[in-house]
Amino acid sequence: MLDGAVISQTLDLAGERCADPTPLVYARLFAAHPDMEALFIRDTDGSVRGEMLTRVFEMILDFVDRRAYGAQLIQCEVVTHEGYGVPPTVFGAFFASVADTVRGLIADDWTPTMSEAWRTLLIDLNWFADHPDQMAPAAFG
Ligand code: HEM
Repeated sequence: MLDGAVISQTLDLAGERCADPTPLVYARLFAAHPDMEALFIRDTDGSVRGEMLTRVFEMILDFVDRRAYGAQLIQCEVVTHEGYGVPPTVFGAFFASVADTVRGLIADDWTPTMSEAWRTLLIDLNWFADHPDQMAPAAFG
């Protein structure tokens, strides 16, 4: 089961340890997908990367709680990002970079419960990235 309280707790803890994890997250993403870095050519000062990551953290907090818009946002972004040249499959790698960064910041305080919460969260986030068609019958959950 997805434990939203544990996810929020890990994001709080990671936030206490690192005011701006943007460089860490994107370094992991670009290590796994070097071809993605060039797509940020217009982001000369890093603000697009920062804004995007902020939106992703907000989306995750919604996704694990009220889920008012988080699932639909993933689906929309998969479609809009195709216009930037981002393949839908890279969403999973991006979410994994976020998870690995959070785990890295929590380091020795990381617990099996946190691991399990993030493992489940990644499966659930990826489901929406893999199924961006909002008109398709709702088969999730
Ligand atoms: C749910 C996941 C995602 C969300 C919510 C999201 C959100 C956003 C937002 C809001 C922007 C515009 C930021 C601004 O102009 O200030 C943006 C831009 C961008 N995103 Fe994402 N994004 C997501 C996933 C990804 C992934 C997986 C990639 C892969 C590398 C990616 C690549 C880009 C690029 C290249 C731009 C800049 C496009 C340009 O040149 O204007 N995004 N994203």
